[in-house]
Parts: sequence; C-alpha cells; structure tokens
Amino acid sequence: ADEPLVLGIETSCDETGVGIVHGTTLLADAVASSVDTHARFGGVVPEIASRAHLEAMVPTIERALRTAGISPKDLDGIAVTAGPGLAGALLVGVSAAKAYAYALGKPLYGVNHLASHICVDQLEHGRLPEPTMALLVSGGHSSLLLSSDITSDVRPMGATIDDAAGEAFDKIARVLDLGFPGGPVIDRLAREGDPAAIAFPRGLSGAKDPAYDFSFSGLKTAVARWIEAKRAAGEEVPVRDVAASFQEAVVDVLTRKAVRACKDEGVDHLMIGGGVAANSRLRALAQERCERAGIRLRVPRPGLCTDNGAMVAALGAEMVARNRTPSDLELSADSSLPV
Ligand code: KG4
Ligand code: ZN
Repeated sequence: ADEPLVLGIETSCDETGVGIVHGTTLLADAVASSVDTHARFGGVVPEIASRAHLEAMVPTIERALRTAGISPKDLDGIAVTAGPGLAGALLVGVSAAKAYAYALGKPLYGVNHLASHICVDQLEHGRLPEPTMALLVSGGHSSLLLSSDITSDVRPMGATIDDAAGEAFDKIARVLDLGFPGGPVIDRLAREGDPAAIAFPRGLSGAKDPAYDFSFSGLKTAVARWIEAKRAAGEEVPVRDVAASFQEAVVDVLTRKAVRACKDEGVDHLMIGGGVAANSRLRALAQERCERAGIRLRVPRPGLCTDNGAMVAALGAEMVARNRTPSDLELSADSSLPV
C-alpha cells in the first residue's frame, strides 16, 4: 500500500511548526519561532507564545503546503500535538487542526509531543526499531522513555525531578551573562574549556538514588555559587572552564543513565531527541558509551530535534499506517498529557 500523506501541527511551546510527510519521507518542515521575542524576557512567556501562534498558524500551514507541492485534498490525515505543553499555545494548534480536518473531511489525530520527538528520527534514519530507548532532553523535558509501539506503548522510565536539562543550560548561561537560549553558547565555549577543571555534582548518582531519574537544580546552584564566590573574591571567572565542567556534569549523567536503561531492559537502540540533543559533547559521549555497550545510537539532525511540525506529521503517518482510531472533533489540548 502507498505510504500515508500527513500534515502535522506543533504549537506546544514557542515554535509554530507545520510539517508534511509521506510515510517516513519529509516533504515540508515550516517553522515560525517567537524565540527572539522571548529572548528579551530570558525565557518563554506563555501569553506571547499563544499570540504568536495565532498570527503564524495559517501562513505557516500555507507555506508548508506550498513547499510540499501537494493539495490538501490529497492528505490522509491531520495530526496535531495535543500535549504536553503550554495550555494556551496547544489550544491554537488543536483548534487549527480541528478546523482544517473538519473543512477538508480528513481524519484528525491528536498526538503526544514526547512520542513525536522520538518518531521524528524516522524521517532521517528510516523506521525506528521497536523497542527503542529514547532520551528526550530540551528546555521543557528530560525523560527516558521506552518505546515498544510508538503509537500506543511508550513507557516512562525516568524523568527530571526538578529542572529540565535545557533549562539548566539556560540558567547557567544567564548567570554568565551569555544570553538566551544558553545551550548553543555554552556548547561553543565549552569546546575551549577543560571539562575536568571544576568537579561539579552529578545529581541523583548515588547507589540509593532512582536509577533513571535526573536532577539538575543542585548542579545549577553549585555552579552559580562557584561563580559568585569567584566574583566576590574579585577573581576572574574562567567562563570556558565553567561551561565545559558544567556541561560535562549534565551529559555524563544523561548518557550514563540512558545506557544503563538500555542494558537493564535489553534494548540495543538508543535515540536522543529534543533541543539539547544538538549538544556536541552529548552526541560524542553518547556515541562513545553506546559503542562500548554495543548499542546503536540514533540522533536526528539538530533541526529535527527542536520542536517542529514534521515530528507530529511523522507520528500521524504512523497512526494512519497502523490503522489507529482517529480523534474526534471534541479533541482538546491537555497541558500535562502523559505518554
Ligand atoms: O526542543 P527545544 O527547542 O524546545 C523546548 O524546550 O521544548 O529545546 C530548547 C532547549 C534550550 O534550553 C536550549 O538552551 C537547548 O535546548 N539547546 C542546547 C543546545 N542547543 C539548544 N543545549 C545544549 N547544547 C546545545 N547545543
Ligand atoms: Zn519539545
């Protein structure tokens, strides 16, 4: 049978994303971001995000359709992020998806944001093996998930008990006056620093700690205190060493726990997604540790790791391909939707 043609809409945070896929082939990936507006506030402002989604929604859908060169009547379905995410932001995408699905007479699929972050890898590396372990790390989430069926069986293994990994990058960047978002800058500076210069704490790494949960708030505080002490003593802060040592503390724990989860569950594929998956040290260390453990690592290119509509379309296509029941037009956004 021919592969499903699906349009996906993502509005869970600050990017308005519309993607179109044909099975596992990406046809269009249009993203409008309000990140520059939020940068002035040092973080995402929900009201601004909702307003920006409203303005960008229809033009972004039209841009994606033009890029893909398809007619909406040829679509096999419309998928949309139903949650988790910012309630007001999600609502804009869900309303748009419902309107288009109703007007075009197409099936509607409300999908989970975290599952889409995993599924997007299919657009780059082909069908995901099942089971696959997934480490999702972004400004909003840090989770280890075991996907046995991407459309219906994604089990949370562990998650952060406080800050998300990306949030920690953003906060440390703020303390160092490096701007927002902080991840890319810290990544760049860390390349010229010594990751062993300062011994920052590895959260939840004790023998009695939960094996797959993460904690980054203690690390964040430790780094901020260390910087404050330097400044108070009138000494110069070695920004590159702080960046490298902080980053190492984050990616050490992330990769160690992800590999351990794979081994414990007998899973030999690990995918890493979310904005922090763009981190060069995370990619390198994960590759090294996976190779040693005989695990195949899959990391989509950075543009697919951050929030986008293609990931929603990819999961929607999988729902169609597996004959999953569509959502009805009563579909509502759920800001804390579980996987
Ligand atoms: O997935 P994403 O675009 O949005 C959500 O938070 O859902 O992720 C953004 C996060 C930000 O916290 C940003 O600082 C972080 O990803 N990030 C990075 C890198 N690039 C983006 N963190 C570490 N290293 C990077 N190279
Ligand atoms: Zn996300």
